[in-house]
Amino acid sequence: RIMKPCNEAVPGYLPGSDEKRGLKVRLAELKQSPMEIPLIIGGKEVRSGKTGKCIIPHNHAHVLATYHMAGEAETRMAVQAALDAGKAWAETPWDHRLAVFLRAAEMIRGPWRHTLNAATMLGQSKTVYEADADAACELMDFFRYNSYFFRQIIEEQPECLQGILNRMEYRPLEGFVFAVTPFNFTAIGGNLPGTPAMAGNTVVWKPASTAVYSNYHVMKLLQAAGLPDGVINFIPGPGSAVGPLVMSHSMLAGIHFTGSTAVFQGMWRTVAQNLAHYNGYPRIVGETGGKNFVFAHPSADIETLVPALIGGAFSYQGQKCSATSRVYIPKSIWPAVKTRLTAGIDGIKTGDVEDFTHYMGAVIDRNAFDNISGYIRFAREADDAEIIAGGECDDSIGFFITPTVIVTTDPKFKTMQEEIFGPVMTVFVYPDDDIEKALTLCATTSKYALTGALFARDRAAVVEMERRLCYSAGNLYINDKTTGAFVGLQPFGGARASGTNDKAGSRHNVMRWLSPRTIKENF
Ligand code: ALA
Repeated sequence: RIMKPCNEAVPGYLPGSDEKRGLKVRLAELKQSPMEIPLIIGGKEVRSGKTGKCIIPHNHAHVLATYHMAGEAETRMAVQAALDAGKAWAETPWDHRLAVFLRAAEMIRGPWRHTLNAATMLGQSKTVYEADADAACELMDFFRYNSYFFRQIIEEQPECLQGILNRMEYRPLEGFVFAVTPFNFTAIGGNLPGTPAMAGNTVVWKPASTAVYSNYHVMKLLQAAGLPDGVINFIPGPGSAVGPLVMSHSMLAGIHFTGSTAVFQGMWRTVAQNLAHYNGYPRIVGETGGKNFVFAHPSADIETLVPALIGGAFSYQGQKCSATSRVYIPKSIWPAVKTRLTAGIDGIKTGDVEDFTHYMGAVIDRNAFDNISGYIRFAREADDAEIIAGGECDDSIGFFITPTVIVTTDPKFKTMQEEIFGPVMTVFVYPDDDIEKALTLCATTSKYALTGALFARDRAAVVEMERRLCYSAGNLYINDKTTGAFVGLQPFGGARASGTNDKAGSRHNVMRWLSPRTIKENF
């Protein structure tokens, strides 16, 4: 039997600990002088001359790096490099392919941990705990679990009758995979190109412009772990230029995407337009937005509920696709919830994440700041809403927004429906004797269906709520926060406008990057 991996744990980073000392040294080194980030195509550094800047969101005057952006020539080069590397990589024995990623996971246990964490703290404004859970633990978990799932899959073989040998050959897809990754998880940056590559595919990887800094370090890690040239080609650049060019290639075999619903829908349209001249039907795997709910029953345990609301809505500044953003609370428990919630929020320190005591850093960039503060302004001016906590926005040094709670009397209020992607939670208080109606509102208010959480001590209520919200979330939590799925333990993804629900961190996802051949031989 293959040994199941254990999920990696975040170290304590306590004052005086070795891990804290080591990380501080790396943070200082990375901040010393801006670096230049090239594209990596066919294993070689390529400089396009057209550049963008990586800045620190909590100190936006500080430039961490200048990065080269792919234009048309570099995008074509990257696709060709992936196609050129395809045959040798597909023919590399599968255990040797996995070895590269398992080696990368082990390397993160060493000095790479500090590099990936420091890059994620500086480039994406994550606290040390959020950065380590992401760039170290989750990335290791993805590489280890997906290797484990891959081995399980290839050992899955059909029955053989006497005189017949039946086999399944788990081939990679024919062509190349396009991985498009988001800013909010460095681990997703590694996983979206990594899983198809483990399965024998070659990849063109376009990271989000706001995560180029940490994602470049992930690329360097994979190269250092022995990834052959051309297996993953790293090309930051404007999506509007890179995307259509990559997706119009006849050998596009798959898309592995995490990002916004609008961009994902645009990708489907581009694929549809090119359908006639593709070699096959590209696999499209995408995880997009969420408008994740918490639904509390009158029997909910308030001491469990309130920390889950705070953690779910405000960790990483609410910039997780899984973040809690609409909340249904019965009137009977609202006064107690409100008191504890506002007291908890009062204790949250927002600021420079290089100070390890801050719970929240800055939001990712100017666009995010303007968008989130626009929603807060809208709520402040509305007659049917009240801001009961936070609502302060300050972009003088970094893009800071305090943890914000809006209470509305309109269950269809704008901030109950639209994805904000920031530290803003909207609460609707429902009458205890109308749970039915509140459940219907919860089930029908959003087009998304990513995560959700139910809070109740009454078992019959849990059964009923779980049934009623059947298609409202791909990841449903009972008496827990809506964020923080562990790779392998809570396979992650949602349906409806939230994505194709191909469950990151599961066998199901690995299977999407394989094209099995059934072989029958008579004797
Ligand atoms: N997988 C991440 C979470 O569960 C998005 O929070």
